[in-house]
Parts: sequence; C-alpha cells; structure tokens
Amino acid sequence: MILADSILFSTLCAFAVSTPLSKRDSCTLTGSSLSSLSTVKKCSSIIIKDLTVPAGETLDLTSLISGTTVTFEGTTTFGYEEWAGPLISISGSKINVVGASGHVIDGQGAKWWDGKGDSGKVKPKFVKLGLTGTSKVTGLNIKNAPHQVFSVNSCSDLTISSVTVDIRDGDSAGGHNTDAFDVGSSTNVLIQGCTVYNQDDCIAVNSGTTIKFLNNYCYNGHGISIGSVGGRSDNVVNGFWAENNNVIDSDNGLRIKTVEGATGSVKNVNFISNKISGIKDYGIVIEGDYLNGKTTGTVTGGVPISGLVMEDNTGSVTSSAKRVKILVENASDWEWSGNSITGGSSFSGCSGIPSGSGASC
Ligand SMILES: *[C@@H]1O[C@H](CO)[C@@H](O)[C@H](O)[C@H]1NC(C)=O
Repeated sequence: MILADSILFSTLCAFAVSTPLSKRDSCTLTGSSLSSLSTVKKCSSIIIKDLTVPAGETLDLTSLISGTTVTFEGTTTFGYEEWAGPLISISGSKINVVGASGHVIDGQGAKWWDGKGDSGKVKPKFVKLGLTGTSKVTGLNIKNAPHQVFSVNSCSDLTISSVTVDIRDGDSAGGHNTDAFDVGSSTNVLIQGCTVYNQDDCIAVNSGTTIKFLNNYCYNGHGISIGSVGGRSDNVVNGFWAENNNVIDSDNGLRIKTVEGATGSVKNVNFISNKISGIKDYGIVIEGDYLNGKTTGTVTGGVPISGLVMEDNTGSVTSSAKRVKILVENASDWEWSGNSITGGSSFSGCSGIPSGSGASC
C-alpha cells in the first residue's frame, strides 16, 4: 500500500509541474464580440471587462467549472433588440460572481422602456442565475434594467450580497415590471445587504424553500412580496424570512398574494423587524384574490397561508393608503405581535384572519 501511494503521489506531482493547473487560468472577455466565449468559459477565473454584448445574444456563462470566479470590470453594456433575453446567464456550482470597484452592468433600459412593462415592446430579462453548492454573487452594480433583473430559479445554497439595482432613471422614463429578485423553485437562498431602486417587487418569491431576505433597502417599487403563488408548475413556498429590511416610498410594504382559484401552499413565513415608510397602497397586505395582475375581491382557500409570523414590523403609510389588508381563506397558525403601522386609514373588508392570531386590520 505504501508503495502504491507513493507512486500515485509522484505521478500527481509530475502532472502538476508539467501542466499548469487550470485553476490558475485567468481569461478576459472584452470588446464587442462573444466569439471567444467558449474558450473563456473553460477558465476558472473569468474577467468580463468593458464588454459590449451584441444585440440579441446572451452573455452565456452557464455550466462553468466548479469553483470559477467571474469578475465584472468596467462597463458592461448590451446591444438593442426586442427579445426576451436573458442578457446574462450564469450557472454552476461553487461559483463566485463579483464586481470590481467602479464597475457597472448597464442595461440601458431606456431603449426598451415604454411604460408598458410585460406588454408593449418585447424586453429582455437581465440576469438569469442557476447557481448551486455555496455559490456567491457579491457587490454587483446593476443599472437600468429593461425588464425584470435577477431570475433566481432552480438555485440552491446561494448567497447574494451587497448588490445594487439602480433603475431610478425608469421612474420618469417609463420603466415598469422591473422586479429586482424573482425567486422560484429554489432552496437555501440568502439575499442580504442589497439596495434596490425599481418599479416593481423588490423581491417576489413564487415558490421555494428556505429563502431569506435580510437587511436590504427597497425604494420606490412594490415592496417585499411572496407571490403571486398559484397557477405555475411549482406552487409551494415553505420557509421565508424577511428581516430588518427597509421598504421606502413603495406601493406596498410587506405582501403575500395568492391566486384566486389556484392550489398550492404558503408555509412558515416570517416578516420580522422590517421598517416601512411612505407606503402608497398597503402597509401590510395578505390576500388570496389575485388573478391576472389584479385583485378580484373573491378569495378562495386553495393556497392556504399557514405558519405566518408577523412580528415587530413598524413604520408608516401615506394619507391615502391603507395600513393593513387581510383577505384570506383557509389560513391557520398565525402569530401577529408588536407591529405598528401608522398613517393612512384602516381597510374595512378584512376577512379570514385565523382566530387567536392577534392580527387585525
Ligand atoms: C384548505 O387547505 C387544504 C390544504 O391544507 C385543502 O386540502 C383544502 O381543499 C382547502 N380548502 C379550500 C376551501 O380550498
């Protein structure tokens, strides 16, 4: 055994000396063509530097070698075409995606914005993530997305930190449906310390298990949202934590919306110590009457909301807003305490609140 081991050891050493380990390879993609992408994708350190991605093409960083680092440097832009995108797609295990100081990934959304969001011009989604195995996305600066920003689908053990999504220009220039984080069919995803200025949900979780959204700032969008849940292929949210976030000048603060007539479930959801201010529609809204982008007023119980903890959430809504709206059926096991939302008025049509939960409108 000793002999066999030492032969194996020296063989490995000889290999290491004569063949540079691919782990050391650093490859840079720059200019305005993706023609070298298939070579670059085999490197374990990929630098995207001042790249202009051609119109209608995806910066395809899928199936990267395990352990690869992708660094965005300088300004990344994209040619204009009406198409669904994504502009960038990244997948693999143990992947580190980082932004160098001063970099920006600029979607130049004004070319697509027409105030119509999901309809009107066909607009590309921005960054599709299929990351697993303790992958990290850290410190990216995303600007002016044409449409939805991060699609977090089929991800597991992924941490997204200190990402800035700045679509402020879209407030006056027709930006719409610019969700920052759309999460579906994912497990163990942590999103923390991010700053979002947009025109739709700061985060929307349609399905997934153990999704955490901690210490983020959300400005001027639609707030923190579970849902809409129902009507997709995966309709179960089990384990969501939104803690210590700030939701500012947004349509809603904290929200769960489930689809009327659909089936699924929303379980073990925790909204704890979030601060809201300047909320324009509803401070806290939990409703089961969502259909085709609207509330119908008819609530069904096929997507029960159970195991909800709503605790120590504080802040204020504008004078025309409602503080709390709850319109659910088949809900159970809620704990509601220490919440204080001021301003606006109360919503009169609340129904379905589980008895003994402490919740009220
Ligand atoms: C209530 O939820 C259960 C699942 O927990 C489901 O089986 C039942 O059909 C639901 N009831 C209604 C009225 O939708």
